[in-house]
Amino acid sequence: MSSELLPVLRERWSPRAFDPAHHLSDQDADVLLEAARWAPSAGNSQPWAFHVARRNTPEWRALTEHLAGSSRPWASQASALVVNLSHVYVEDTDWEFSEFSIYDLGQAVAHMTIQAHSMGLSCRQFRAFDKDAVGRLLEVPPHWDVVTMTAIGRAPSEAERGPRASQRETAIAWPRS
Ligand SMILES: Cc1cc2nc3c(=O)[nH]c(=O)nc-3n(C[C@H](O)[C@H](O)[C@H](O)COP(=O)(O)O)c2cc1C
Repeated sequence: MSSELLPVLRERWSPRAFDPAHHLSDQDADVLLEAARWAPSAGNSQPWAFHVARRNTPEWRALTEHLAGSSRPWASQASALVVNLSHVYVEDTDWEFSEFSIYDLGQAVAHMTIQAHSMGLSCRQFRAFDKDAVGRLLEVPPHWDVVTMTAIGRAPSEAERGPRASQRETAIAWPRS
């Protein structure tokens, strides 16, 4: 692996275990949201929103009701669950809808994830929850879409990361010869 790669990129990974004793401070939560806020977006539309629910708060309890069986064991240990929403339509433009809203949201979440890693925190983004139920719970308005959640917390040191495709596999040129 290239030594030129930023350590925060090389070392980031998504654990399936979190320290249930770790608490996410207000200040840390603010820094994570700030990292997302500075992400680039199509036409500077910033088509994202984040709903942060800290562990053991009433809103967190309500969200955990809607986790799928596959995510519940680790997501409910995390210090916070963040619901990631995209703004599908963009007011004050002549766009019918933002074809880039999910793309832009993904960049903002990536920013948050990298910022978290640099603060000694870990994130696992996930889709394994009842999206419609979460939308109803948060009373998500029309034109907004619940896309994913991010479990954020401190990973236990024994947790292991998964494999990764090689650069040769991802740097594909078309048409292929
Ligand atoms: C949009 C998105 C959805 C994901 N959904 C899930 C999920 O439902 N359950 C899960 O365990 N992991 C989920 N993940 C985490 C990925 O599986 C994980 O990022 C991937 O295996 C690469 O591992 P790494 O982040 O440790 O490099 C999701 C990640 C993304 C970006």
